[in-house]
This record gives sequence, structure tokens and C-alpha cells, in this order.
Amino acid sequence: MASSLFGSSLTKELDLRPDQFTYLLDLAATLKRDRKSGTEKPMLTRKTIALLFEKTSTRTRAAFETAANHQGAAVTVFDPQSSQIGHKESIADTAIVLSRMYDAIMYRGTAQETVEELAKYATVPVYNALTDSWHPTQMLADCLTMQEHSLKPLNEIKFTYVGDARNNMGNSLLITAAMMGMSFSIGAPKSLWPDQELITKAQALAKANGGEILLTESATEAVADSEFVHTDIWVSMGEPESAWKERIDLLKPYRVNAKLMLSAAPTAKFMHCLPALHDLATTTGKKAAKILGVNDGIEVSSEVFDSTANIAFDQAENRLHTIKALLVATLVAP
Ligand code: CP
Repeated sequence: MASSLFGSSLTKELDLRPDQFTYLLDLAATLKRDRKSGTEKPMLTRKTIALLFEKTSTRTRAAFETAANHQGAAVTVFDPQSSQIGHKESIADTAIVLSRMYDAIMYRGTAQETVEELAKYATVPVYNALTDSWHPTQMLADCLTMQEHSLKPLNEIKFTYVGDARNNMGNSLLITAAMMGMSFSIGAPKSLWPDQELITKAQALAKANGGEILLTESATEAVADSEFVHTDIWVSMGEPESAWKERIDLLKPYRVNAKLMLSAAPTAKFMHCLPALHDLATTTGKKAAKILGVNDGIEVSSEVFDSTANIAFDQAENRLHTIKALLVATLVAP
């Protein structure tokens, strides 16, 4: 199976077949076990990886750099300020140049077209480390984490996403669930649902793979009997504060608090790709809490975030193991 991914790019979840997605999860679990038991063997010695960041990151950058380091590879981090990418040199030329020196290219930025252009012109694997449309490496970590915290196989798990669903996390969870035959609900105001075209595609995929997709404006209906309740941040520093109030008012009924968790399965776990506004420890959190009228978290209450139901830090750690699996599967010749 490794041979089927050798040399491949990952620009979005649908680049992978379900069996390839499963292969990456199994490989990640093995690499995680090896790391923890001190038996990990470097398989990427002398490989080099270019990491292109148009947007900020903590987890993804840490995961790519650490995974490369554990496996014996070296990385170079590029950002718009310290490179010619995008402003003085086209994406196509960048892809060609970097392919002459590196074994792989990772891209984090806004436009999905950019990562697809990189993949079109690169002669080495290109990885999407988040665009406005998709977050495929996060999906590998999310599924590994759900698998670790459930006794059921992935295709028997029911999980939910509540909040702003017309973003990369909403899109990616929807398509991943459909691809893997899972039971998945979105609880969000209709204006913040993924594009109808994507919903239709996901529903057809789910039907073909034995999964179920529900979209509802009721947060309670969405989380009913779910084993995992996911959410994501509602506002970001880049947006005008005038937009925050409207968004926060719209999403208030979808806040993950102890009452909402009561509608989920009794052993339900809380998941968040992070960063999260779960207290007043950040400037953004303080400003958003004032608008929401709480002394607490925004998309998730402190009570839930600080509880044993929260597995977001396991999820964050799994970025490392799953990204490592992606590097090994695509860069080690069979
Ligand atoms: N979840 C995630 O992608 O985190 P970073 O933005 O910190 O990389």
C-alpha cells in the first residue's frame, strides 16, 4: 500500500482513496508507538522539505518540523517576507525551483488554487497544510484521535461539528466523514453551512460508503448521541471587530457548554483543532468574551474545555504522528 502513496501530493482529502486514508492512520499509529517505545527508525535521512507559510501556525509548523527531525530530514521555512514567493516570483516558477532542491513542499495559505498550482508544477509531493477551503492533515489527526478514543471502527462512529461550518474545518470534516462512511452531523446557522454543491457531493459519497450526513440548525439535534463534538474558533484577529458581534450573536446557540454536551453520548469527548478561545487568557478571547457577555470561553465554555471530556491536546499531538506518516508514505520508496 505504501507504494500507492509514494510520490503523491495531498492538496485535499479527496486526493486520497479511503484505503489510503486508512493506511495513513495505521502507519501513524505504528510510528506513534515506535516513538513512545524508543524504537523509531529514521526513514527520511538526507531528505529536505520546504515549508511555505503565508499564514501563521503553531501546531502544523511544529508537527512538520518535529516529524522531519525525528525521521532524519531537514526543513527550510519560507514566509512572504523572507522569500520572493508570490510577489516577485510566480507559484509555478517557485514549484519548479523548489522541486530541484527539495524532496517535498508544504504550503499553508489562503487560496486552494495556490496549493493546486504548486502541485501542478512541482515534481515532488506537495502537501496542503491548510487553505481557506481544506485542512487535510488536520483530518488525519482528527480521525486518529477519534479512533484512539473509541472502541468502534471509524465507520461506526457518530460525530458532530457545531459552529461556523462554511470554513476549511467544516468542509474537511464533511468530506472526510462521507469518504470514510461515518455518521456526521453539522449544527450551524444555515448561512454558515458549507456550499450546497459540497453538501450534495458529501451526501452522495456518504451514501456510497455507508455513512450518514445530517445538517441542522439545531445544535441539540446535531450532537444527539454523538461520541465526539467538534468546534472551531468563531472569530479571528484579521477580521474587523464590527463583524465579530454579528458572528457571535449568530453562533451563540452553538457554543459548546456543559448543557449541550448533555445531549451527546454519555461518554462524549470534546474536540477542537486549536487554537481555542476557551478563557480570557488571550487579547482576542477577552474582546470576544465582552461581546458575548461572559467571563469565560467563546466557542467552548471553560467548564467543558477544562473537563476530562476535552481531548483537543491529544488531537494536537496527533498532528505530529499523522504528518510523520504522510511524509514517510510519500517520500520513502517502496
Ligand atoms: N490546528 C492548526 O492547524 O493549528 P495551527 O494553526 O497552530 O497550525
